[in-house]
Amino acid sequence: MAENLMLDKEQFKIGFFSPNCSGGMAVTKVPERWVNSWDNNVALAQLADDAGCDFILPIARWIGYGGATNFHGNVLETMAWSAGLLALTKKISVIATMHTAFNHPVVIAKQIATIDQISHGRAGLNIVCGWNKPEYDAMGIDMPDDHETRYAYGEEWYQLVKKLWTEEEAFDWDGKYFHAKGVYGNPKPVRGSVPIINAAGSGEGREFATRNANFLFTPAIDLERSKGEVIEIKEKAAAKGRDVDVITLTTIVCRPTQKEADDYLKYYADDNADWEAVDNLVNLQFAHAQSFPHDLLALIRDRFAAGHGGYPLVGTPEVVADGIEEIYEAGFGGVTLAFVDYVKEFPYFRDEVMPLLEKRGIRKAR
Ligand SMILES: Cc1cc2nc3c(=O)[nH]c(=O)nc-3n(C[C@H](O)[C@H](O)[C@H](O)COP(=O)(O)O)c2cc1C
Repeated sequence: MAENLMLDKEQFKIGFFSPNCSGGMAVTKVPERWVNSWDNNVALAQLADDAGCDFILPIARWIGYGGATNFHGNVLETMAWSAGLLALTKKISVIATMHTAFNHPVVIAKQIATIDQISHGRAGLNIVCGWNKPEYDAMGIDMPDDHETRYAYGEEWYQLVKKLWTEEEAFDWDGKYFHAKGVYGNPKPVRGSVPIINAAGSGEGREFATRNANFLFTPAIDLERSKGEVIEIKEKAAAKGRDVDVITLTTIVCRPTQKEADDYLKYYADDNADWEAVDNLVNLQFAHAQSFPHDLLALIRDRFAAGHGGYPLVGTPEVVADGIEEIYEAGFGGVTLAFVDYVKEFPYFRDEVMPLLEKRGIRKAR
């Protein structure tokens, strides 16, 4: 059995978010914007694996955001993507992102168990309970208006997955949303389960995460505010006898000088932002999700252009390391990184920022 790096409680995690999607996290028209080809994804996964990073996390997306680039209009499906990357890497955890509404739990239980077998225990599951109305329309499914219903559906979905992973005998399931007769799931994940992430912002989402997940993946807009939120989430989890870490998303522009970093940010995320796609994305977030706090959402339009709402870390290696240290001090258990061109830009971060994090005792070397 391989180690699953997501289970190392002593490590501040570094992962990557959204390389399976066209544009990655940057809603920009610049010609060097991320091309989510399979070959680019393999190149990134192998670079990340060799650098000792902990995980790669995809976005599950079916319909793009329009604009000049149709941001996220081209997306590698995350279960197939995970299977391929797990087969081509050695240590890193690769996580599949699954919509509860679009994927039957009996199928997902088996698919996750299968990719966990492929990787000898390095798989993970990111559960997303739905918000994107155009995708429900594309699937021909009615989206429940309220969060309570979406998360209640997600809860039953996950309880059924869990039972399939733990129950040895065939069983019947007669729930509100799922009915199954004589069902069982073999093989099982190599540890009986896999690290569970829940990506959410609302109260219902956080309740779901503290009940079920190992990690809540949630935006950090204002680190002072995040501090209190992380404490609250950890306390909520502890009250349920659980230990939950909180991870957040960042946008990295790391250059030898502050001016170069600032200039590049302005070039890709302001002068050449795909503002129509940014506005579609922000408006959809207002309509059906509370992933980003609504009182701050309008203020962070620029952060959506730069990196889909990720916390911006822009500057020299020292400045970027300082930013990660602040996130660590705010209580987060890890970050995802995103670059305009992940493969081209990550090596500079690996060589210049990761040693600083190790020197400062934020992360142990691998
Ligand atoms: C960091 C982060 C990542 C997410 N990733 C996805 C995704 O890959 N696909 C998706 O459809 N929704 C994704 N979501 C949306 C959530 O799964 C959730 O369904 C939605 O935000 C509505 O719930 P909420 O109001 O509790 O956040 C993500 C949300 C956050 C905060």
